[in-house]
Amino acid sequence: MCGIVGYIGHRKAYPIVLKGLQRLEYRGYDSAGIAIFDGSDIKLSKTKGKVADLQDRLEKEIPTEGNLAFGHTRWATHGVPNDVNSHPHYSNSQNLAIIHNGIIENYGTLRQELIKRGYTFTSETDTEVLVNLIEEIKIKEGVKLGKAVQIALNEVVGAYAITVFDKERPHELVVARLGSPLAIGVGEEEFFIASDASPFIEYTKNAIYLEDGEMAIVSREKGVRIRKIKNDKQVAANVQELKMNLEQIEKGGYEHFMLKEIYEQPNAISDTFRGRMRPKSGIIKMAGIDDNFEKFKNAKRIIIIACGTSWHAGLVAEYIIEELVRTPVEVEYASEFRYRNPIIYPDDVVIAISQSGETADTMAAIKLAKKSGAFVFGVCNVVGSSISRETHAGAYTHAGPEIGVASTKAFTTQITVLVIMSLKLAKEKGTITHTEYHNYLQELDLIPEKVKEALTCNDHVKTVAAKYKEASNFLYLGRGYNFPVALEGALKLKEISYIHAEGYPAAEMKHGPIALIDEQMPVVVIATRKGHYEKVVSNIQEIKSRKGKIIGIVTKGDKAVKELADYVIEVPETSELLTPLLTTIPLQLLSYHIAVMLDKNVDQPRNLAKSVTVE
Ligand code: M6R
Repeated sequence: MCGIVGYIGHRKAYPIVLKGLQRLEYRGYDSAGIAIFDGSDIKLSKTKGKVADLQDRLEKEIPTEGNLAFGHTRWATHGVPNDVNSHPHYSNSQNLAIIHNGIIENYGTLRQELIKRGYTFTSETDTEVLVNLIEEIKIKEGVKLGKAVQIALNEVVGAYAITVFDKERPHELVVARLGSPLAIGVGEEEFFIASDASPFIEYTKNAIYLEDGEMAIVSREKGVRIRKIKNDKQVAANVQELKMNLEQIEKGGYEHFMLKEIYEQPNAISDTFRGRMRPKSGIIKMAGIDDNFEKFKNAKRIIIIACGTSWHAGLVAEYIIEELVRTPVEVEYASEFRYRNPIIYPDDVVIAISQSGETADTMAAIKLAKKSGAFVFGVCNVVGSSISRETHAGAYTHAGPEIGVASTKAFTTQITVLVIMSLKLAKEKGTITHTEYHNYLQELDLIPEKVKEALTCNDHVKTVAAKYKEASNFLYLGRGYNFPVALEGALKLKEISYIHAEGYPAAEMKHGPIALIDEQMPVVVIATRKGHYEKVVSNIQEIKSRKGKIIGIVTKGDKAVKELADYVIEVPETSELLTPLLTTIPLQLLSYHIAVMLDKNVDQPRNLAKSVTVE
């Protein structure tokens, strides 16, 4: 939540920060602001709304010259989205300014104390409290900005990634992180600060990812000096080379990132296989599993923790792991798990799934599991993310940057990684036969081509979208491996079109939801040929008798559902266990087209943000 960008160097800072904010807008987009140091003062401009609104306003309001600037795109936590609550925030003297991603939990007490000492506040934010606390410490203790930030951060409780500037020290920015990501781009006599590396990718491939509990003084004169916030211990900077390129984070001719990412799935899935799977020789290589095989082999239970779409991928994995590996699996919402005093045994294996690798609830659940002695394995997309570093071992999905707030390729690549893992474990444990193993590998290898074929339904899906776009409710039904896909289809529709949708196991209809069916209700039913097909056809008949409108997601060549349904959308045939990788495609496209037809903001739906780094 919230994106932060900063620049200090020899270039004009404003355009770099502005473009950086546009790239980070997926993290939050209810307000935005930029501070520019003009050589003597900090000039601020901020507004409720998008980065584009900020640009209009800022260029009329303040001069854009200067080699140091920092900006923020906000997803509101404390205080409604308005101009005043937007970041950056000045300290009372206006000598300091700050941008902040996260939540200061004890801000109420700190604010009262500062008020007693004569400080005033213009906003409702926790951030304005923090910048004034830093200012007070700086004056009272007679210390430089870096030290004041450090002392202040030892007084606050909460999560943060911050950038602070003091006009009395115009050659440096002070940054710190705890629980929210922060990267420093290292160029030739210039430095970039950002929530992820996308704002500086065209300027430098060298980045330092601050670890939790670290702060850095980023100085044009002295470079990057990192210290531990708690004990002031110096830390050597670990400069990493970025693999990401500019093309990957641009729309590449597509109208929206979401559509681009839907169409990237064949390649994304191939990238997930790359270097791991050799179907002809029957080899699967996964360092994270190879090195920890005994943990998986001896596990009495696997617990999967995740949120949102990643949780749905976890549910698919539950079916797959239990089928192939025969180890019991429990799938938990990380947000519930972390607070319900769960029973975790040291011989449990915990799999944490997260696209961003930054989700606060998942991170907290991981820490809890580690405390109980369990082995924690991460499945993340973002390389170097907090979760990938916090887990004992893991596997990246290699889906490439996902910018659209609605997850698409993250879901299919997470399932792909989990299938590969399951096949490897099943083979090593001997829970599937040699023939089954090889057949699955061959089938998996064909999936990217089959996803390509599934994507050819796009025009037909558009017709279906046009027909039902005015519906107020949708039901999504599936069974077995495709029950979680029904949940995922409903989530996609809800989050980008704001139409109420629910996913159910098809057989549960008769226990309640069937009461909802009338001629106004579109019901999307996943009815693949090998997945309890006859039973699902009976469920479709029950819906038909109650005049519901049926959109069937079926295997190519299907006859029975075609006779009953109002529309069918075909996907290629594959092993039932792999069908989620195909049946998901039309559901992603359906939600996309409905949202576009309803003129919704597909990539940045209201109230949401791409990575949820707050509770
Ligand atoms: O980055 P993560 O996978 O940990 O994110 C989890 C959820 O916040 C995320 O999947 C969210 O539900 C998406 N907006 C779904 O499209």
